[in-house]
Amino acid sequence: MRTLIVYGSKYGYTRECAEIIAELLKDEEVIIVTHLDHQSYPTLADYDRIIIGGGVYMGRLHRKVRKFIEHNRELLLTRQIGLFLSCLSQGDEAEQMVRKSFSEDMLKHAKAVALVGGCVNLEKLNPLYRRLFRSQQDSLDKRDTESLKRFTEALRAP
Ligand SMILES: Cc1cc2nc3c(=O)[nH]c(=O)nc-3n(C[C@H](O)[C@H](O)[C@H](O)COP(=O)(O)O)c2cc1C
Repeated sequence: MRTLIVYGSKYGYTRECAEIIAELLKDEEVIIVTHLDHQSYPTLADYDRIIIGGGVYMGRLHRKVRKFIEHNRELLLTRQIGLFLSCLSQGDEAEQMVRKSFSEDMLKHAKAVALVGGCVNLEKLNPLYRRLFRSQQDSLDKRDTESLKRFTEALRAP
C-alpha cells in the first residue's frame, strides 16, 4: 500500500501527528509526508492511500488543506483516504468542527476520520495570540496520541 500523508500545520503539532502516523505505518511500502506550505506534492495518482491532516485556526481548517482537497476532490474520491483534524475543541464542538472542515462526500468516503487533539505552544505565537491564549483557563496541551493509533489501525483494517 503506497501512502502519502499531506498536512497543513502552522505551529508544529499537526506535523508531529503526521510524523507519528508515518512511523506507525513504516512497515508498509512507501510513506511520503508533505507539508503543504513548503513544497509541491507528488502525483497523487501514484498513491493508493492518501492521509490528509490540518490544524484549525479561528474556526477554520488550514487554508492550504482546504485548497488541496478542493483541487483534488475527484481523485481523492477514487483512493483510500484518512482525514485528521488537530484542534483544541473537544466533544460536540470538535465533532462540529470536523463537519465544518471536511465536506460530506469526503467524510463519507474516508476510511478513517480522527480528532487528534491540539497543542498550543505559547513560545511560537506572536505577542497578540500569546496574550490571548495565556489568559485561557483551559489546558493548551491536549495532544491525543491514542487517537493516532486508533486512526492508523482503522486505516489498516481489512
Ligand atoms: C491562532 C490560533 C487560533 C486557533 N483557533 C482555534 C479554533 O478556532 N478552534 C480550536 O478548536 N482550536 C483552535 N486553535 C488551536 C489549534 O487548532 C491547535 O493548537 C492545533 O494543534 C494547531 O496545529 P499546529 O500546531 O499544527 O498549527 C487555535 C490556535 C491558534 C494558535
